[in-house]
Amino acid sequence: MCKIISIANQKGGVGKTTTAFNLATALTVKDNKVLAIDFDPQSDLSKYADYDNNDDKPTMSDLLMGKVGIGKAVDIKDCIRHNKLNRIDYIPSDINLANADLILSGVLSRETILKRILKNEIVNQYDYVIIDCNPSLGVLLMNALATSTGVIIPVQTQDFAFDGLNTLTGVITQIQDTINSQLSIIGVLPTMVEHTNASKRVLEQLENIYKDKLFNIRIHKATQAVESTQLRKALCLIKNSKLGQEYLDLADEVISILA
Ligand SMILES: Nc1ncnc2c1ncn2[C@@H]1O[C@H](COP(=O)(O)OP(=O)(O)O)[C@@H](O)[C@H]1O
Ligand SMILES: [Mg+2]
Repeated sequence: MCKIISIANQKGGVGKTTTAFNLATALTVKDNKVLAIDFDPQSDLSKYADYDNNDDKPTMSDLLMGKVGIGKAVDIKDCIRHNKLNRIDYIPSDINLANADLILSGVLSRETILKRILKNEIVNQYDYVIIDCNPSLGVLLMNALATSTGVIIPVQTQDFAFDGLNTLTGVITQIQDTINSQLSIIGVLPTMVEHTNASKRVLEQLENIYKDKLFNIRIHKATQAVESTQLRKALCLIKNSKLGQEYLDLADEVISILA
Protein backbone atom coordinates (compact mmCIF):
# COMPACT_ATOMS: atom_id res chain seq x y z
CA MET A 1 0.00 0.00 0.00
CA CYS A 2 1.14 3.52 -0.78
CA LYS A 3 2.51 5.55 2.12
CA ILE A 4 1.65 9.23 2.16
CA ILE A 5 4.12 11.45 4.01
CA SER A 6 3.62 15.12 4.87
CA ILE A 7 6.67 17.29 5.49
CA ALA A 8 5.35 19.90 7.89
CA ASN A 9 6.38 22.77 10.13
CA GLN A 10 4.51 26.07 10.16
CA LYS A 11 7.86 27.85 10.41
CA GLY A 12 9.38 28.88 7.10
CA GLY A 13 12.98 28.19 6.11
CA VAL A 14 13.49 25.06 8.24
CA GLY A 15 14.22 22.73 5.32
CA LYS A 16 10.76 21.37 4.45
CA THR A 17 11.08 21.72 0.68
CA THR A 18 14.70 20.56 0.64
CA THR A 19 13.66 17.51 2.65
CA ALA A 20 10.53 16.78 0.59
CA PHE A 21 12.40 16.92 -2.72
CA ASN A 22 15.53 15.10 -1.64
CA LEU A 23 13.68 12.41 0.28
CA ALA A 24 11.49 11.87 -2.79
CA THR A 25 14.47 11.35 -5.08
CA ALA A 26 16.38 9.31 -2.48
CA LEU A 27 13.37 6.96 -2.27
CA THR A 28 13.38 6.53 -6.06
CA VAL A 29 17.11 5.73 -5.97
CA LYS A 30 16.09 2.91 -3.63
CA ASP A 31 13.71 1.60 -6.31
CA ASN A 32 10.48 3.14 -5.08
CA LYS A 33 7.95 4.92 -7.26
CA VAL A 34 7.31 8.37 -5.82
CA LEU A 35 4.82 11.18 -6.39
CA ALA A 36 5.77 14.56 -4.90
CA ILE A 37 3.00 17.07 -4.26
CA ASP A 38 3.75 20.77 -3.97
CA PHE A 39 1.19 22.00 -1.43
CA ASP A 40 2.75 25.43 -0.87
CA PRO A 41 1.68 28.47 -2.92
CA GLN A 42 5.34 29.58 -2.98
CA SER A 43 5.94 26.64 -5.36
CA ASP A 44 9.54 26.05 -4.29
CA LEU A 45 9.28 22.30 -4.82
CA SER A 46 7.86 22.89 -8.31
CA LYS A 47 10.82 25.10 -9.16
CA TYR A 48 13.21 22.48 -7.78
CA ALA A 49 11.55 19.98 -10.14
CA ASP A 50 12.15 22.40 -13.03
CA TYR A 51 8.43 22.99 -13.55
CA ASP A 52 7.55 24.93 -16.68
CA ASN A 53 4.58 27.07 -15.59
CA ASN A 54 3.59 27.62 -19.22
CA ASP A 55 2.89 23.96 -19.81
CA ASP A 56 -0.89 24.56 -19.85
CA LYS A 57 -1.68 21.61 -17.64
CA PRO A 58 -3.71 22.04 -14.45
CA THR A 59 -1.97 22.52 -11.08
CA MET A 60 -2.71 21.61 -7.48
CA SER A 61 -4.87 24.70 -7.00
CA ASP A 62 -6.94 23.87 -10.13
CA LEU A 63 -7.42 20.41 -8.68
CA LEU A 64 -8.57 21.72 -5.26
CA MET A 65 -10.89 24.37 -6.64
CA GLY A 66 -12.33 21.97 -9.20
CA LYS A 67 -13.09 19.46 -6.47
CA VAL A 68 -15.22 21.95 -4.51
CA GLY A 69 -17.02 23.22 -7.59
CA ILE A 70 -15.38 26.64 -7.69
CA GLY A 71 -13.48 25.93 -10.88
CA LYS A 72 -13.72 23.42 -13.69
CA ALA A 73 -13.47 19.77 -12.57
CA VAL A 74 -9.95 18.43 -13.14
CA ASP A 75 -8.68 14.85 -13.30
CA ILE A 76 -5.66 14.26 -11.08
CA LYS A 77 -4.03 12.25 -13.90
CA ASP A 78 -3.82 15.44 -15.96
CA CYS A 79 -1.93 17.22 -13.16
CA ILE A 80 0.95 14.76 -12.84
CA ARG A 81 4.24 15.68 -14.50
CA HIS A 82 7.38 13.59 -14.70
CA ASN A 83 10.81 14.98 -13.82
CA LYS A 84 13.21 12.67 -15.60
CA LEU A 85 16.47 13.88 -14.07
CA ASN A 86 15.22 13.39 -10.51
CA ARG A 87 13.10 10.32 -11.35
CA ILE A 88 9.98 11.62 -9.65
CA ASP A 89 6.41 12.32 -10.67
CA TYR A 90 5.07 15.55 -9.24
CA ILE A 91 2.06 17.85 -9.06
CA PRO A 92 3.08 21.52 -9.09
CA SER A 93 1.40 24.35 -7.21
CA ASP A 94 0.96 27.98 -8.07
CA ILE A 95 0.27 31.21 -6.20
CA ASN A 96 -3.52 30.71 -6.41
CA LEU A 97 -3.16 28.15 -3.66
CA ALA A 98 -2.57 31.12 -1.33
CA ASN A 99 -6.31 31.83 -1.45
CA ALA A 100 -7.28 28.37 -0.26
CA ASP A 101 -8.02 29.40 3.34
CA LEU A 102 -10.35 32.16 2.23
CA ILE A 103 -12.01 30.33 -0.64
CA LEU A 104 -12.56 27.11 1.25
CA SER A 105 -13.74 28.70 4.50
CA GLY A 106 -17.39 28.01 3.74
CA VAL A 107 -16.93 24.64 2.08
CA LEU A 108 -18.30 21.54 3.80
CA SER A 109 -15.64 18.98 4.88
CA ARG A 110 -12.91 21.32 3.73
CA GLU A 111 -10.21 19.34 5.59
CA THR A 112 -10.68 16.24 3.45
CA ILE A 113 -10.61 17.66 -0.07
CA LEU A 114 -7.09 16.37 -0.81
CA LYS A 115 -7.99 12.98 0.63
CA ARG A 116 -10.92 12.77 -1.77
CA ILE A 117 -8.73 13.91 -4.69
CA LEU A 118 -6.00 11.32 -4.10
CA LYS A 119 -8.01 8.44 -5.47
CA ASN A 120 -6.76 4.99 -4.58
CA GLU A 121 -6.25 3.88 -8.16
CA ILE A 122 -3.82 6.77 -8.67
CA VAL A 123 -2.10 6.72 -5.31
CA ASN A 124 -1.60 2.97 -5.30
CA GLN A 125 0.54 3.21 -8.41
CA TYR A 126 3.14 4.74 -6.09
CA ASP A 127 5.09 3.42 -3.14
CA TYR A 128 5.29 6.88 -1.55
CA VAL A 129 3.55 10.21 -1.94
CA ILE A 130 5.48 13.11 -0.40
CA ILE A 131 3.58 16.32 0.38
CA ASP A 132 5.57 19.54 0.79
CA CYS A 133 3.40 21.62 3.15
CA ASN A 134 3.07 25.38 3.37
CA PRO A 135 4.34 27.28 6.40
CA SER A 136 1.03 27.78 8.23
CA LEU A 137 -1.47 25.87 10.34
CA GLY A 138 -4.37 26.53 7.99
CA VAL A 139 -6.66 24.48 5.82
CA LEU A 140 -3.88 23.27 3.49
CA LEU A 141 -1.96 21.68 6.36
CA MET A 142 -5.18 20.10 7.67
CA ASN A 143 -5.78 18.60 4.22
CA ALA A 144 -2.26 17.23 4.02
CA LEU A 145 -2.44 15.68 7.50
CA ALA A 146 -5.93 14.30 6.94
CA THR A 147 -4.70 12.17 4.05
CA SER A 148 -1.24 11.18 5.36
CA THR A 149 0.11 7.97 6.82
CA GLY A 150 2.76 9.92 8.64
CA VAL A 151 4.38 13.29 9.13
CA ILE A 152 8.02 14.34 9.20
CA ILE A 153 8.78 17.55 11.10
CA PRO A 154 12.06 19.20 10.01
CA VAL A 155 13.50 21.40 12.74
CA GLN A 156 16.34 23.81 12.08
CA THR A 157 18.83 23.34 14.89
CA GLN A 158 19.08 26.99 15.88
CA ASP A 159 17.73 29.15 18.66
CA PHE A 160 13.94 29.55 18.56
CA ALA A 161 13.70 26.12 16.89
CA PHE A 162 11.04 25.13 19.39
CA ASP A 163 8.70 28.03 18.73
CA GLY A 164 5.40 26.60 17.63
CA LEU A 165 6.38 22.92 17.78
CA ASN A 166 3.88 22.23 20.55
CA THR A 167 1.15 23.91 18.56
CA LEU A 168 2.01 21.73 15.57
CA THR A 169 1.98 18.49 17.54
CA GLY A 170 -1.31 19.66 19.06
CA VAL A 171 -2.80 20.01 15.58
CA ILE A 172 -1.49 16.55 14.69
CA THR A 173 -3.20 15.10 17.79
CA GLN A 174 -6.46 16.79 16.83
CA ILE A 175 -6.30 15.30 13.35
CA GLN A 176 -5.54 11.87 14.82
CA ASP A 177 -8.51 12.17 17.19
CA THR A 178 -10.95 13.27 14.51
CA ILE A 179 -10.43 12.60 10.83
CA ASN A 180 -7.29 10.45 10.52
CA SER A 181 -6.55 7.92 13.25
CA GLN A 182 -3.82 6.24 11.15
CA LEU A 183 -1.64 9.39 11.15
CA SER A 184 1.68 8.97 12.97
CA ILE A 185 4.64 11.20 13.62
CA ILE A 186 7.37 9.42 11.63
CA GLY A 187 9.99 11.62 13.16
CA VAL A 188 11.39 15.01 14.06
CA LEU A 189 14.31 15.72 11.70
CA PRO A 190 17.19 17.95 12.80
CA THR A 191 18.24 20.06 9.81
CA MET A 192 21.09 22.49 9.09
CA VAL A 193 23.09 21.02 11.96
CA GLU A 194 26.32 22.92 12.59
CA HIS A 195 29.30 22.52 14.89
CA THR A 196 28.23 25.45 17.03
CA ASN A 197 27.13 25.62 20.64
CA ALA A 198 23.66 26.79 19.68
CA SER A 199 23.20 23.87 17.31
CA LYS A 200 24.48 21.38 19.92
CA ARG A 201 22.21 22.84 22.59
CA VAL A 202 19.12 22.57 20.39
CA LEU A 203 20.02 18.99 19.42
CA GLU A 204 20.30 18.01 23.09
CA GLN A 205 16.91 19.57 23.82
CA LEU A 206 15.38 17.77 20.84
CA GLU A 207 16.81 14.47 22.09
CA ASN A 208 15.35 15.07 25.56
CA ILE A 209 11.91 16.03 24.34
CA TYR A 210 11.35 13.76 21.33
CA LYS A 211 13.47 10.74 22.35
CA ASP A 212 12.71 7.85 19.97
CA LYS A 213 10.67 10.18 17.76
CA LEU A 214 13.88 12.00 16.81
CA PHE A 215 15.48 10.59 13.66
CA ASN A 216 18.95 9.06 14.08
CA ILE A 217 20.13 10.88 10.99
CA ARG A 218 21.16 14.53 11.22
CA ILE A 219 21.04 16.74 8.15
CA HIS A 220 24.05 19.05 8.30
CA LYS A 221 24.33 22.57 7.03
CA ALA A 222 26.10 22.75 3.66
CA THR A 223 26.08 25.24 0.80
CA GLN A 224 25.47 22.33 -1.53
CA ALA A 225 21.77 22.54 -0.57
CA VAL A 226 21.50 25.87 -2.37
CA GLU A 227 23.54 24.65 -5.35
CA SER A 228 21.25 21.66 -5.65
CA THR A 229 18.16 23.87 -6.00
CA GLN A 230 19.93 26.03 -8.55
CA LEU A 231 20.92 22.95 -10.56
CA ARG A 232 17.38 21.55 -10.18
CA LYS A 233 19.12 18.34 -9.21
CA ALA A 234 18.63 16.31 -6.03
CA LEU A 235 21.62 16.14 -3.70
CA CYS A 236 21.93 12.36 -3.90
CA LEU A 237 22.45 12.62 -7.67
CA ILE A 238 25.40 14.98 -7.18
CA LYS A 239 28.65 13.04 -7.06
CA ASN A 240 30.21 12.60 -3.61
CA SER A 241 27.65 14.83 -1.92
CA LYS A 242 27.74 14.33 1.85
CA LEU A 243 24.31 15.92 2.16
CA GLY A 244 23.08 13.60 -0.60
CA GLN A 245 24.25 10.61 1.45
CA GLU A 246 22.45 11.99 4.49
CA TYR A 247 19.20 12.12 2.54
CA LEU A 248 19.78 8.54 1.30
CA ASP A 249 20.23 7.51 4.94
CA LEU A 250 17.05 9.38 5.85
CA ALA A 251 15.22 7.40 3.14
CA ASP A 252 16.46 4.15 4.72
CA GLU A 253 15.29 5.27 8.14
CA VAL A 254 11.86 6.28 6.83
CA ILE A 255 11.48 3.00 4.95
CA SER A 256 12.30 0.98 8.06
CA ILE A 257 10.04 3.03 10.37
CA LEU A 258 7.08 2.62 8.01
CA ALA A 259 7.73 -1.05 7.22
N1 LIG B 1 21.08 21.33 4.97
C1 LIG B 1 21.08 22.58 4.50
N2 LIG B 1 22.22 23.31 4.50
C2 LIG B 1 22.24 24.57 4.04
N3 LIG B 1 21.17 25.20 3.53
C3 LIG B 1 20.00 24.55 3.50
C4 LIG B 1 19.89 23.20 3.98
N4 LIG B 1 18.61 22.80 3.82
C5 LIG B 1 17.96 23.84 3.25
N5 LIG B 1 18.78 24.88 3.05
C6 LIG B 1 18.46 26.20 2.47
O1 LIG B 1 17.66 26.93 3.41
C7 LIG B 1 16.61 27.61 2.75
C8 LIG B 1 15.28 27.15 3.31
O2 LIG B 1 15.11 25.77 3.02
P1 LIG B 1 13.72 25.20 2.51
O3 LIG B 1 13.88 23.75 2.28
O4 LIG B 1 13.21 26.01 1.36
O5 LIG B 1 12.81 25.47 3.80
P2 LIG B 1 11.22 25.56 3.95
O6 LIG B 1 10.60 24.76 2.84
O7 LIG B 1 10.94 25.00 5.30
O8 LIG B 1 10.86 27.01 3.86
C9 LIG B 1 16.78 27.34 1.27
O9 LIG B 1 17.50 28.39 0.69
C10 LIG B 1 17.59 26.06 1.23
O10 LIG B 1 18.37 25.94 0.06
MG1 LIG C 1 9.18 25.29 1.39
